[in-house]
Amino acid sequence: MTIHKINIGLTDEQRDGVMMLLNQDLADAYVLLVKTKKYHWDVVGPQFRTLHKLWEEHYEELTENIDEIAERVRTLGGYPTGTMEGFLSLATLKEHSGEIPTATGMVTKLVEDHEQVIRNLRNHVDRCSEEFHDQGSANFLTELMEEHEEMVWMLRSFIEGQPLESDGK
Ligand SMILES: [Fe+2]
Repeated sequence: MTIHKINIGLTDEQRDGVMMLLNQDLADAYVLLVKTKKYHWDVVGPQFRTLHKLWEEHYEELTENIDEIAERVRTLGGYPTGTMEGFLSLATLKEHSGEIPTATGMVTKLVEDHEQVIRNLRNHVDRCSEEFHDQGSANFLTELMEEHEEMVWMLRSFIEGQPLESDGK
């Protein structure tokens, strides 16, 4: 089998650098997907229906994003991470296994996670553009970042104006 050498104006080092960032973003998206789905299942309380539906929309959006990130790695000639072990070793997000927070606690945790993903993506956009000269990946990650900004706005709006859990009310 002949393998055509990729000749799209990026060096192997530039493509490898971008794919490393994409695989990290893929891993974080997967961890966030699992957390969102778990809260969709576990949430209770008066806001059950709202949050159950919102998290269904979010995990559907994350599922599409995951597919796009993985396929972008293939586009650049590499292979995406595709094992749970691999995702957990690359992800920057942490799991909280064994805990079932209150509805507000779940929203707060997801806000923090989306914000962390947004900070990572903002950094990766700059690195793709400035360090690796891959404007295509920089644009792709910018769009992903904007989607997370919208998702976190919806989550943040949900808890704004509510007393914090630690107030003991
Ligand atoms: Fe469901």
